[in-house]
Amino acid sequence: MAEQKATNVTWHDHRVSSADRQKLNGHKVAVLWFTGLSASGKSTVANTVDHKLHAIGKHTYILDGDNIRMGLNKNLGFSADDRTENIRRIGEVAKLFADAGVIALTAFISPYRADRDAVRALFPNGEFHEIYVNASLETCEKRDPKGLYKKARAGELKNFTGIDPNSPYEAPEKAELVLDANNKGIDELADDVIAYLKGKGLLDA
Ligand code: ADX
Repeated sequence: MAEQKATNVTWHDHRVSSADRQKLNGHKVAVLWFTGLSASGKSTVANTVDHKLHAIGKHTYILDGDNIRMGLNKNLGFSADDRTENIRRIGEVAKLFADAGVIALTAFISPYRADRDAVRALFPNGEFHEIYVNASLETCEKRDPKGLYKKARAGELKNFTGIDPNSPYEAPEKAELVLDANNKGIDELADDVIAYLKGKGLLDA
């Protein structure tokens, strides 16, 4: 739990509510929280879903681990504490996007169940959707697009998720959606997400 350092701060309710923004945008607010191992396909699937939603006129935005770590979270590494802070900040940013009426897609390993649950708790029921991009370590290591698994196996990269015993990946136990990323291609996985969103009525006003 992050410490509240500032005192003498007051919450301001604004005249345009999240509900007003949803009405204007013609769709519900949602946080699509993609989680999975490095190279499981989180960013690529999120990107494809984003593209498909944009094409049908939905207001979306992607928050992506590698990108955010070059800016907002550039002072964070991969210790357990830094990952917790990484996810806490992204949860808060996703909340701002939701408040702005946007469908936020996040693509972070987010390996710790407790951190993901803490983000879930920031949102009203039905707004946070945990999407487990389920690709096995074997699949991800075989892909290894950035060569990071190879480096981790060679002992050149500490704290690498799934390889270093100190950096486990805790798979979701209650994800709203599990994607079979061992066997399906990106487009099919993205369509699974769109079908899920339609089924929940999230793409209608
Ligand atoms: S998280 O664990 O804090 O959620 P995040 O998704 O932001 O991680 O960043 C993961 C990305 O950082 C990976 O896709 C990979 O490109 C890069 N990376 C560099 N070092 C590590 C490491 N030790 N463990 C995991 N990913 C790493």
